[in-house]
Amino acid sequence: PRPGWSVDADVVVVGSGVAGLTVALRCAAAGAHVTVVTKALLDDGSTRWAQGGIAAALGEGDTPEQHLDDTLVAGAGLCDEEAVRTLVTEGPDAVRRLIATGARFDTDDETGAVLLTREGGHHRRRIAHAGGDATGAEISRALVEAVRAAGIETIEHALVLDLLKDAEGRAAGVTLHVMGEGERDGVGAVRARAVVLATGGMGQVFSATTNPAVSTGDGVALALRAGAEVSDLEFVQFHPTVLWLGPDAEGQQPLVSEAVRGEGAHLVDADGHRFMVGAHELAELAPRDIVAKGIMRRMQELGAEHMFLDARHFGAEMWEHRFPTILAACRAHGIDPVTEPIPVAPAAHYASGGVRTDLAGRSTVPGLYACGEVACTGVHGANRLASNSLLEGLVFAERIAADVTETLREPAGSPQPAAVGTATGTVLAGPKARPEIQRIMSEGAGVLRSRESLERAAEELARIAEDAAAAPESPGTESWEATNLLLVARVLVAAALRREETRGCHWREDAPDRDDAWRRHLLVTLRPDRTL
Ligand code: SIN
Repeated sequence: PRPGWSVDADVVVVGSGVAGLTVALRCAAAGAHVTVVTKALLDDGSTRWAQGGIAAALGEGDTPEQHLDDTLVAGAGLCDEEAVRTLVTEGPDAVRRLIATGARFDTDDETGAVLLTREGGHHRRRIAHAGGDATGAEISRALVEAVRAAGIETIEHALVLDLLKDAEGRAAGVTLHVMGEGERDGVGAVRARAVVLATGGMGQVFSATTNPAVSTGDGVALALRAGAEVSDLEFVQFHPTVLWLGPDAEGQQPLVSEAVRGEGAHLVDADGHRFMVGAHELAELAPRDIVAKGIMRRMQELGAEHMFLDARHFGAEMWEHRFPTILAACRAHGIDPVTEPIPVAPAAHYASGGVRTDLAGRSTVPGLYACGEVACTGVHGANRLASNSLLEGLVFAERIAADVTETLREPAGSPQPAAVGTATGTVLAGPKARPEIQRIMSEGAGVLRSRESLERAAEELARIAEDAAAAPESPGTESWEATNLLLVARVLVAAALRREETRGCHWREDAPDRDDAWRRHLLVTLRPDRTL
């Protein structure tokens, strides 16, 4: 179908986390007409849920070089060093500008210096936090307020569908489905000379995840359909310590921040044994993939469904002051961390891969940018270092804004864009496919994978695609989301099957060693005739 309504802008930003709102603010400050579209409310994305904080070499004695070293080690040989150098050297000032934009971090009462904590893989205290353990919520609050104060146009409840391209193949806007009222209800379009994807991750492709319900891989799916290159999708990071709510828990699960370990909590089994001590020089503060594997191994050895995080020694006052969000989440589920160890297990947390970009956030489709979790800038490699993601969103958002502003000075191309690879013309999987995809992915492509489990997952996903082709669903948000989940799941499984080694957060039981022949990226571009 043709778009029913359309609005014009210079830049359309899709998504409203730290990445999207920072791009929007910086582009607007440079005089561009920006429209932000977001699937739910402005603060409903993953940023709001970030707990631990934002990493940057702000502390005395710390340097970007040390931050670089820790990031490269965590990334297990697959980081793009230039991208990491950009991140760590531009990071401290980007955080200062975020503070100038209105974000209030926790500070020392006497000196006023920003307080810093530790997390896995960091050899120094380097993580700035806000509200104790509510860093993302504070960043989101500050950015949403700034966007409103700047009068930036926003369209909420708008699911992005596909890219519009002009006659030269440049990005020229997006089509979207708005669940709204009046003339902006239904399918419409925002036409713009630059399109910035900041749609976040794809954690909902698994049954249990720390990601909110909106994280359905929409940006990666759009980029694939538009012919953009996608990279590293096999590197899904599983957060080691997610509150364990039973074997059948589904959807978004409460996170227990690494910062809890950073402040001295111990990982123990049911007998109180600290199994990470001796397993790595940093014990509980080893990089995230190593801790997740340590937990999984111990669970396998003992036939246990979870391990425990013991921070009773913090005492009530520290829990209340430093980790109020986690304390409340645990208590809401009947667990009191002041008096008992917290049951924890790994759950899907972060997509290290995504839409491949250069250092200006440009994808391989001219005019299409990607920023934040949806992007693969090369800074995370095979395993993201804790708290580097808010920083990545911030630093690369500023770079994108600079590039977009420069591009807007050039003469405009063809004024009449046409939709390409439209989801509106795609065979749609039904809403019922979503839990099915999640089950298949958790069973076959979770923390532990093997050729056999991945092949089974690939077959089952192919069957869902065949069923969808035989009996397509009618369009609607749930069908489009399921369609996007199915597409990213299939590409993820194909990449995980091809990578016959264990590296970073990609753990193949049948290929347990790192293999330097695989020290390369798996790049994917969808053929134009392929929709699923
Ligand atoms: C956490 O607080 O443990 C999450 C930090 C991150 O994912 O970077």
